[in-house]
Amino acid sequence: MKLAGRIAFITGAGSGIGAATARLFAAHGATVIGADISEANVKDVFSDLENGEGIAMDVSDSTQVKDAFAAVENRHGALHILVNAAGINAPTREENQRLVDINVQMFEAGKRGERLHPDFLSGVTDEHFDRVLAVNLKGPFYTIREAAPIMKRSGGGSIVNISSVSALVGTPMPLYYPASKAGVLGMTRAAAGELAPHNIRVNAVAPGAVDTPLLHAQPDEIVDSIAGIQLISSLATPEDLAATMLFLASDDSKYYTGQTLSPSGGLYM
Ligand SMILES: NC(=O)c1ccc[n+]([C@@H]2O[C@H](COP(=O)([O-])OP(=O)(O)OC[C@H]3O[C@@H](n4cnc5c(N)ncnc54)[C@H](O)[C@@H]3O)[C@@H](O)[C@H]2O)c1
Repeated sequence: MKLAGRIAFITGAGSGIGAATARLFAAHGATVIGADISEANVKDVFSDLENGEGIAMDVSDSTQVKDAFAAVENRHGALHILVNAAGINAPTREENQRLVDINVQMFEAGKRGERLHPDFLSGVTDEHFDRVLAVNLKGPFYTIREAAPIMKRSGGGSIVNISSVSALVGTPMPLYYPASKAGVLGMTRAAAGELAPHNIRVNAVAPGAVDTPLLHAQPDEIVDSIAGIQLISSLATPEDLAATMLFLASDDSKYYTGQTLSPSGGLYM
């Protein structure tokens, strides 16, 4: 029981890595508040979790974030852990389909022994870029801004932000995703500096290919080819990632702050 007595807030807890992290933290004795834009999913995940509650919240809406954290402090009196797992790989279904189409064209060309030079750039609108940044980068900013004062009043805490290996390794893709995820790493380091005197640690995780609905927004052959560029070419499970989140959230990592751990099957070293 590594988190007994701790209060944890997890965004994106309705699916994938966030849901697996919520389950593992609850099994380790934490009281877990899970927030997700999909109320149905988060309620489903939390229906069988003791010491947990699922709430609907859009991380890109600063008012909703402010209200949610105020409610947590009112109800529980403290906050010790924040995990920022909410994220999107594309701003709309149509834009995701455009990525799929380009990836499939590249894959088919590769099978013919040809090299296709993709054009992701020209199809990205201002609105696409803004939406991904709003969820993936401004979302964690809003939650950290609300969580930090409560953690200070609670005597300290641990914040874990999910970035992506795409922030560390250059591969062609629409710029909004690696831009948002690289921003998370910059924010992690600066927040670590500001919050260390208050006994609050801030770290990031930059995963490779993880077996979640976000990755499976691509067809199976593309998922296999994404994983295939890693030294370990099998997919990580959400539970593999949750184990890393537990390490960073618990006192096992008490001398780590401002760090990026990359469970990416060796893609980034
Ligand atoms: N799966 C991968 O291969 C992979 C790789 C690198 C990084 N990541 C990152 O890991 C994190 C978790 O992703 P996942 O793979 O578990 O995906 P997922 O789609 O299974 O889970 C993401 C969750 O975030 C929620 N969400 C989306 N927009 C939201 C918003 N505006 N407000 C609140 N919740 C919102 C979704 O409803 C969903 O439940 C994301 O930040 C993602 O970018 C995933």
